Amino acid sequence: MTSPRTTLSLVDTDPAELAVDAIVIGVHSQTTEQESGSPAGALLLASGAESIAAAFDGKLTETLALLGATGGPGEVIKLATLGTVTAPVVAAVGLGPEPSGAAPAPETLRRAAGAAVRALAGAARVALALPLPDDADAPAALRAVGEGALLGGYRFAGYKTKPQPARRAPVAEVLVAVPDAADATAQAEVTRAQAVAGAVQTSRDWVNTAPNELRPPSFAEAVATAAREAGLGVEVLDEAALAAGGYGGILAVGQGSEAPPRLVKLTYTPAGGGNGKRVALVGKGITFDTGGISIKPAQGMWEMKSDMAGAAAVGAAMLAVAALKPSVAVTGYLPMAENMPSGTSYRPGDVITMYSGKRVEVLNTDAEGRMILADAIARACEDGADYLFETSTLTGGQVIALGKKIAGVMGTPELCERVRAAGDATGEPAWPMPLPDDVRKGMDSDVADISQVNAGMDRAGHMLQGGVFLREFVTDEVAWAHIDIAGPGYHSGEATGYWTKGGTGVPVRTLLHLVDDVAANG
Ligand code: BES
Ligand code: MN
Ligand code: ZN
Repeated sequence: MTSPRTTLSLVDTDPAELAVDAIVIGVHSQTTEQESGSPAGALLLASGAESIAAAFDGKLTETLALLGATGGPGEVIKLATLGTVTAPVVAAVGLGPEPSGAAPAPETLRRAAGAAVRALAGAARVALALPLPDDADAPAALRAVGEGALLGGYRFAGYKTKPQPARRAPVAEVLVAVPDAADATAQAEVTRAQAVAGAVQTSRDWVNTAPNELRPPSFAEAVATAAREAGLGVEVLDEAALAAGGYGGILAVGQGSEAPPRLVKLTYTPAGGGNGKRVALVGKGITFDTGGISIKPAQGMWEMKSDMAGAAAVGAAMLAVAALKPSVAVTGYLPMAENMPSGTSYRPGDVITMYSGKRVEVLNTDAEGRMILADAIARACEDGADYLFETSTLTGGQVIALGKKIAGVMGTPELCERVRAAGDATGEPAWPMPLPDDVRKGMDSDVADISQVNAGMDRAGHMLQGGVFLREFVTDEVAWAHIDIAGPGYHSGEATGYWTKGGTGVPVRTLLHLVDDVAANG
């Protein structure tokens, strides 16, 4: 199921004269009288709005304030222009307090662009005249505005049998007002924003697809088809190939479902071999997680349709890699299984011989993600990765520790720091967590090489148990990072900024930033 896509381009004509359905300007809130010299609570127009303000004869801020504008982040106030400017509507989006001496932070712009485009649903053409810096920060700001606009406009096509009202249709076309629309750097940012946001949208579509429609065989097929069209190398291992290859972890989790498991491998080969480095991306693809025999409670179980968000992010990021052609080799690994209770399910007490040859004692069938990931990680290491980034909706412990917005990162310390920095740059925050010896010790098994969780079923350091377990399957020379997105992968609340309800597409933008980072810096 695919969603309609918003298009993005640049303009450098006067915003007051643009023939669009709405023009978006920024407004700052003013906190104190001392800072600004004007009364506390007053609005301040952001740069970019000058010609619009001039057309309103100096009455624009006053009018917006009358309509309730405060300049707070996420606020969008619409105003009929009644012929003062060409566009029939001005939409003022709140940017919060004006940062001293600088343009707003990229994430502030990304969220504002998202909120504005979402609030203008139903309009065909919208222009954004937001404050953009004219220095070295310009590309990052434009990238943020472009991504925010495209992502705020996202709407999942859904399954409603009656046509939805046109007033709620996503904006079809977004124009961003810049000083020079022909500037090559600016054009490159538009191209990149389109590829990156397209990947985030694809990832959201896959997560939002109902789990009866997205089981391992059909998910594998959807990813493989999109990847072939993008020009990637595609290999799909079905249940017979997985059995022949000895993928014990993927098979164990998948054996309880009538829809058999898959492992999808996607390969991007850079022209001329790139910089010689090899990046592996691995994503958890549990198309539905009931918990299996260790079954989950009914409350909220439906959200486990999002338990393939890691695989969706990796598959979609690979599509963007194919379009952006970085100078580094990138391979994606997407293990897929449906975790179901049945007469053929794996059970607590089972000992599984994994792809790496290690034997794992199963204690809780609901800790299924690490079982399928361990096989995919071992395969990626065998194929020869220099850097391995793995992402998964792995533990409820991540949500307890870091909440719904910040991913947990475990692995090689240097790489964890690069993931944190990439998350900071993209607006997908991630925070490094430790891999303590005592947590590993607690997973010693009486009968096998390692238990899948703490041998006494102690939930202490729950998120860390996942990281410690996965480390066992990474070979020594590979730098790796495990990114637990149990919280940030799915947004259950109302839309905010460029996040819509449902799949978020986290961490697609982080992964693409990391690929660029490795391409540039090794
Ligand atoms: N898919 C879940 C983790 C999850 C929880 C993701 C909440 C998103 C939101 C995972 O497979 C799971 O069930 N984890 C268990 C692990 C436990 C059985 C060791 C958990 O978090 O309780
Ligand atoms: Mn589970
Ligand atoms: Zn799961």
